[in-house]
Amino acid sequence: MQILRRKLLQRIPFNRVARRCLYSTKNVPDVGQPTPASHPQFLKEGEITPGITSEEYILRRKRLLEILPDKSLAIVAAAPVKMMTDVVPYTYRPDADYLYITGCQQPGGVAVLGHEFGLCMFMPETSPHDVIWQGQIAGVDAALDTFKAEQSYPMNKLHKILPDMIRSSSKLFHNKQTALPTYMDLEAFQKAASIGIVKDLSVYTHEARLIKSPAELGLMRDSASIACQALLQTMLHSKTFPCEARLSAKVEYECKMRGAQRMAFNPVVGGGPNGSVIHYSRNDQKVKAGDLVLMDIGCELHGYVSDLTRTWPPCGRFSPVHEELYDLILETNKECLDLCKPGTSIRQIHNYSADKMRKGLKEIGILKDDRHHGYNQLNPTNIGHYLGMDVHDCSTISYDRPLKPGVVITIEPGVYIPVGFSCPDRYQGIGIRIEDEVLITESGYEVLTGSLPKEIKHIESLLNNYGHAMGIDTHNVVRVASS
Ligand code: GLY
Ligand code: MN
Repeated sequence: MQILRRKLLQRIPFNRVARRCLYSTKNVPDVGQPTPASHPQFLKEGEITPGITSEEYILRRKRLLEILPDKSLAIVAAAPVKMMTDVVPYTYRPDADYLYITGCQQPGGVAVLGHEFGLCMFMPETSPHDVIWQGQIAGVDAALDTFKAEQSYPMNKLHKILPDMIRSSSKLFHNKQTALPTYMDLEAFQKAASIGIVKDLSVYTHEARLIKSPAELGLMRDSASIACQALLQTMLHSKTFPCEARLSAKVEYECKMRGAQRMAFNPVVGGGPNGSVIHYSRNDQKVKAGDLVLMDIGCELHGYVSDLTRTWPPCGRFSPVHEELYDLILETNKECLDLCKPGTSIRQIHNYSADKMRKGLKEIGILKDDRHHGYNQLNPTNIGHYLGMDVHDCSTISYDRPLKPGVVITIEPGVYIPVGFSCPDRYQGIGIRIEDEVLITESGYEVLTGSLPKEIKHIESLLNNYGHAMGIDTHNVVRVASS
């Protein structure tokens, strides 16, 4: 293996590539992403990505191979780089499956898993041009030494090596989200597809990713904690600056100042009637005095995302109409949290919430009856979803699946009343959602977003009694899981 590796490496024109040492990597190899040697502030010895050790990555691959049928081959390509314009890329976000299996946060690679050989990574070759413009990237060496692949080859060998791997497998799985012509155009792949043995891998990766390990839970907790602190600061900020764009900027700043790499999704910052648009993302209006603002936000910390929503009046006082509706959503939120335990499913919690909301909205006088149709117009969403490396994590797993300890879900009841809905005028154009993240435990649940107030009296007290100018502005940068 070492000889083959050396031979392959000789062909890569490293010697022609000017080595550009980054500030932080002067005396250590640069593999295009943080390592314990280059970024000891993020990673402990033995970790491939912050908080996740090489043993854990190896275990993930072993477990995935165990649940795949015998003689399977799994192909997972890295996410493509999306371009903003000719040579200017959007910020890169690794595909969750590729990251979960390899720990590689960079584009250009194709990972292949097989029962015979373990992990084989085909890695992009460094061109002098790329190094000049983007710096070093992970190649064959990094695949073997950093990501602990059993085999690695430069990408230009894929068309020679992968066809034999495909031919000696009886089932072929690939990540359809990131599928590439590089391997799909191979004759061997086409033949496998024509006889119907090519399937989507996500059913298996989602199965593996559903129950979080203690290390993953550490990152989930930290990601939730960052989002809570950031939204708290943003709530305080809203009293002085009730503008959707400023609140969006503020929450992103506060998340990143605490160590988040990016937002989990474009923040939803809806003032007044904009709050009744479920995934509103224009964020370009002022919030009128007396109106509510709904903020649905989340950030990503070393591959793990958070997702929470609060709704509040930046002026500091809920109106009686807001209170009436808010109380119903809050009560639904709390009762649904109490249903979270092993054995219950998201669907059961959803059905409970829909029943309660239909009855409540009829009592208030917003719905004429408690039939499903009217309610669906006011809330077509599900009570929640699985959460993890993606916001709508493990999306192939049914909401009928009984929950197990180690699964993280959201609980997010809401009501979105469009202007013009046939109900008393005072309720029109109101959007309220209260979303928490919940970890299912052996005995019930733990709310990961519990540090952010949601009771009316607590929110009002915060907005009116807590000098926003004196807001806790020390950015508590989170490294990794504290546990
Ligand atoms: N918070 C985004 C979503 O759940 O769709
Ligand atoms: Mn959500």
